Order: sequence, then structure tokens, then C-alpha cells
Amino acid sequence: MTKNVKGFSKLSKEEKINWITSTYFSNSEEAKSELKKYWNSDENLQKLHDEFIENTLTNFYLPYGVAPNFIINGRSYTIPMAIEESSVVAALGNAAGFWAKRGGFHAEVLGTEKRGQVHFCWNGNPEYLQSLFPEIRSKLLVESDFLTAKMEERGGGITEVELKALPHILPNYYQLDACFETCDAMGANFINSCLEQFGKSLQEFFLTSSKVSAGQRECEIIMAILSNYTPESRVRAWVDCPIIDLLDGKTEAECFHFARKMEQAVRISQSDVSRAVTHNKGIFNGIDALAVATGNDFRAIEACGHAFAARNGQYAGLSDVQIQDGKFRFGIELALAVGVVGGVTAVHPLAKLSTQILDNPSAKELMMYLAVAGLASNFGAVKALVSVGIQQGHMKMHLSNILNQLNVPEERQAEIQQHFQDKTVSFSAVEEYWKYLG
Ligand code: MEV
Repeated sequence: MTKNVKGFSKLSKEEKINWITSTYFSNSEEAKSELKKYWNSDENLQKLHDEFIENTLTNFYLPYGVAPNFIINGRSYTIPMAIEESSVVAALGNAAGFWAKRGGFHAEVLGTEKRGQVHFCWNGNPEYLQSLFPEIRSKLLVESDFLTAKMEERGGGITEVELKALPHILPNYYQLDACFETCDAMGANFINSCLEQFGKSLQEFFLTSSKVSAGQRECEIIMAILSNYTPESRVRAWVDCPIIDLLDGKTEAECFHFARKMEQAVRISQSDVSRAVTHNKGIFNGIDALAVATGNDFRAIEACGHAFAARNGQYAGLSDVQIQDGKFRFGIELALAVGVVGGVTAVHPLAKLSTQILDNPSAKELMMYLAVAGLASNFGAVKALVSVGIQQGHMKMHLSNILNQLNVPEERQAEIQQHFQDKTVSFSAVEEYWKYLG
């Protein structure tokens, strides 16, 4: 049986559900009711979610939780998180509490500029085009005025446009490389609109300018698009304390030993790609969860973060440890671009709620909280790795998921948790023990 369908997007939501359930499920009624179980009973709210994407059938829940007790730059915060992975929220909460006793997290924004490019081909001399560029540049800025006026009122706009000849990539290939300040917006629509307008103005320049010869009037725009790589939009976060204060109730030697193991783990992530990827994955556990909770584009954040992790020619861990003058310092520097206005941030009720939990931050403040979330998540993971191991925390949550899957009543869960305290948790082992208990 063919599973292709024509004109699917034109079908009603009910028809789409009928098609999918009758095509892919032997018990289509059961599948239909499973999909509908996740509809919101508030029709308007459901409609809002339906319209975020095309072909919406239902909603896909992610747990939404919070990690409280963060001290960031001397103020206290609760970090909202949307994530499916067990123990990430707990790890952030623990790191928050741990560092709250040691001066909290510190963060600062190092820049906020974003870039985008018009990629084009023109069959002419690069030096000559460069000599025409001041005139072209003015035309680009004047003709995009209608797009930039509002952003300029808010303190943003286009801050720079350069012409780059890049014939080593493609014959006759050039870029208009532009810099933008987008204030509290992530700015994707603003940047892309400006770039598309640049493309039109550029083509018009070649068609109409008396300084372009008849044979060189054709300018092929390949594409106009923002770059999600934003090395000039950067943030830094860090924690520090005397090494002797690193562990509660431990000797000085134990604290030094722990600091050294943290340093070793981080050094490994900075030189070994296998470890670096996992190390950074742990960082993005915290960043993505906060990005999703605030309606930000976590794919853009990740893409940029990983490119930034490879900025020196080798993919490396994003965090760093310094041990100096009896002090332990754990920090991170990230390139990221986020917004607190526009897009889903302004429309998704839970994204709005998240920004309220964060005290309505500016985009710059959100950058700092994201860096802190990444650092906290990384600290929690690496601390566990170099001490008790990662499975202890994971398995506790894993066990609780298995108990729920097996429908073990709440009042019977404690004795099973007790039994597995010093044993390896697996679905079959828990199931067997549960059967044994009867
Ligand atoms: C698991 O989601 C993340 C970790 O693997 C990160 C790390 O190894 O640093 C625990």
C-alpha cells in the first residue's frame, strides 16, 4: 500500500488525523484518541499552537520545570526549563545551591552584533567594484531605510556593510557582509528583510549605473540570509571560590584533589573531540532547556555554539578551569543570539510566563542566564563524572521512570528504590523485582 498522499496540507485537521491513523495504525480509533488526548481543552489556545507550524495534529508535551536558588551577579533567580531528559533540572538546581553558598554566578555580555550576507556573482573586476562600493553602500542604506527606521528608534539598525570578493570559493563570487544590532529581538526577520532589500538594490545598481559597462549589468543573487554564527554576540559566565571552600565538610587535600580532577576533565575536553562533544552536550542541556522555555530557537543557539567551539581550528570544550593563587575558577564563553520580543517568545503563553519568572529580562540579560544555565549544567555533570559517576543521579530518575512505566503504586516505590540503591538499574531487573514482591 502506498503511503504517499497528495494535497495533505489542504486537508482539515480532522482529515489529516484520519489519514495518518488509518494509514499507519491497525487500531486507528485508539491512535486517534491518543492524538486527541493531547489537545488543549481551551480551543483558542489550541488554535494558537496549531498555527505555529503546518499540518499540526496535536501537541507534544515536554516537562516544564524550574531550577531555583540561582544567584547571578548578586541577584537571585529561578531558571525555567523545558526538557525531557531526567536529572538535568536536578543538576542545575544542585549547582545553583552549591554556588549560591560561594558567591553565586557572575556573567557579562561582551557584544551583541549579528551578521548576515548577500551572496552574489558578478563578472567584473573586484578592485573596480570595491571603488564603486561607497556609492553602492549609500544606496543600500537609503533604500533599506523603510525597514530600519523602527529598529533605529530602539537603538539598533545596520552598523556596517562590507564588500568581500571571494573568487577562491566560486568564480565571480562576492558577499555583501552586513552587521546588525537588533536590541531585544533575535532579529532574524529584520536581518533577512534588510538583506533581501540589499539584493534588490544591488541588482538595480548594476542595471542602471552609468559606471557599469553594458556587458556587466548582470548580477546574480545566489541568496540573502542571516548567519547563525554570531561570534560578535558573546557572553561570558563564571564562578570562583578559594579551593579550600570547594567541598562542604571535606579536608583541604580532598578539595585540592577535586579541583585538580575538574581541571583534568576540562583539559581533556579541550583537546579530545570525542570528549569535547559530550562535554558540550552537557552544557547545551542547560542552555537548550532555558532556550525552549523562553521560546528561543535552540537549533540556532546550538549551531552557533558548536561553530564557536571550533573557532580555533579544532572542536573543543566550551568551558574552562583555572587554578591559581589558591582559587578555583570555572567559566564559559559562548557566542549566542537570542531575543525576548518577537517570534514565539511573544506568542507562546509559557514562553511569556518564563520571561516573567526571569523578571522580564532584556536580550542581554537572557544571554547571561543562558550562559549561566550552560555553566551550571556543565559543572553538575563534570562534578558527578569526576566523583560519584554520572549513573548515580541518572539511575535515580531512570528508576523512577521505570516504576511509573510498570504502574508501581506510589506507596510501594520506596522499598524498590531502597533495594536498588546499591544495584544496577535496568528495566528487566526492576520488573523482575516488582514481580517478586508481588
Ligand atoms: C548527559 O546528558 C550529559 C553528560 O554526558 C555531559 C558530560 O558528560 O559532561 C553527563
